[in-house]
Amino acid sequence: MKADSVKIADGVYWVGALDWDARDFHGFAVPGMTYNAYLVFGDEKVALIDNVYDGFYPEMWARIEDAFAKEQKEIKIDAFVINHIENDHIGSIPEFLEQCPDVECYCTQAASMGIKRQHHCLADQEFNVITTGDTLDLGGKTFTFINAPMLHWPDSNFTLYNEEGILFSNDAFGQHICESKRYDVDVDPAYLALHAKKFYANLVQLSASMVLNKVAEMTEAGYLDNLTMIAPCHGQIWTQPGTIVELYAKWAKGEADEKITVIYETMHHSTQKMAHQIVEGIMSEGVEAKMHFIRYDPESDILADILDSKAIVLGVPTMMNNPYPKIGNLLAYLSCVSPANTGVRKTAAVFSSKGWAGGAIPKLTESLTAAGFDVLEDEAVEEIYVPDENDLDKCYELGKKLAQMVKE
Ligand code: FEO
Repeated sequence: MKADSVKIADGVYWVGALDWDARDFHGFAVPGMTYNAYLVFGDEKVALIDNVYDGFYPEMWARIEDAFAKEQKEIKIDAFVINHIENDHIGSIPEFLEQCPDVECYCTQAASMGIKRQHHCLADQEFNVITTGDTLDLGGKTFTFINAPMLHWPDSNFTLYNEEGILFSNDAFGQHICESKRYDVDVDPAYLALHAKKFYANLVQLSASMVLNKVAEMTEAGYLDNLTMIAPCHGQIWTQPGTIVELYAKWAKGEADEKITVIYETMHHSTQKMAHQIVEGIMSEGVEAKMHFIRYDPESDILADILDSKAIVLGVPTMMNNPYPKIGNLLAYLSCVSPANTGVRKTAAVFSSKGWAGGAIPKLTESLTAAGFDVLEDEAVEEIYVPDENDLDKCYELGKKLAQMVKE
């Protein structure tokens, strides 16, 4: 196959893969994905940074061949840096090591163990263990390694290319999109920010403060004095790295917008009507409202809207004295990945419809409280069968009251 590399700096090439067809990545709804890998040419050695998912090796190798052709050099890769060992970055490692058996591999201790547990064929593979401050000299070009445990796995590592000020950050600062051009400035800024936010909300936010601490630590150490780019392993390369660092700071501090996310499911349109009236109440105060219909909207999209909302409203019908079961996935997801679990407090309100005994309201309240939300129990709205005008007025007033709260 033919696939071109993209030169991003002197002697530095993007040699990753474009997964145009991806729509779901372990439950994360994506409009395609990229698996970014980079090839760095020093005066004496050539290094490959990271790798690609199962099935994408031919594409990466074609780009590597193209990069060597552009540099007018025989193909020989001396060093292989593995910043993270989730399968989207190491799935093709066995093929790569079969083709380049003499390459020196560099990764953290946790990575060396984890690779062997995922690729049993590599049980005897040798890895050079890297710790923070270790360097690799390619001849005129040097890397400094910065271990970044739990950003977002124990094995995670950042690699800083000192001379050009490029931080290869792996998952941190990434976005799950697939575009034909490689830079932040090549795509609509709002689209890019939306997908960076979604990536952060679903994959990074539990480690948010650690990302910021790591950036502060690197700044203090002078590692970022000449930062020109952040080159993550997914999505666009940040040529204006301050943009994404500032966004991460905002999200990690829990700074939210005057915005409320309303999430609902319905059986016979009763909670649907209630949700619509709640949104009308929010809108009446000039506050932004986002609406999510659970059966159609992926949890990963809902989480992105919750991230920068000051409050959420959650409503489902009652079914056999419990919340309508379609809410189950979202509640389970919120119990593990929620802004509230990072210490950020958000307000929540709940609503439901019932035929007779009820039971959804206390269960929703319990689940959201356990996930770390401050639930306004006295504001819950519950109606019988089909909401009448009085019920709908209560919903409108709930939306209005929440909107007034988030404006305070
Ligand atoms: Fe892109 Fe944690 O893998």
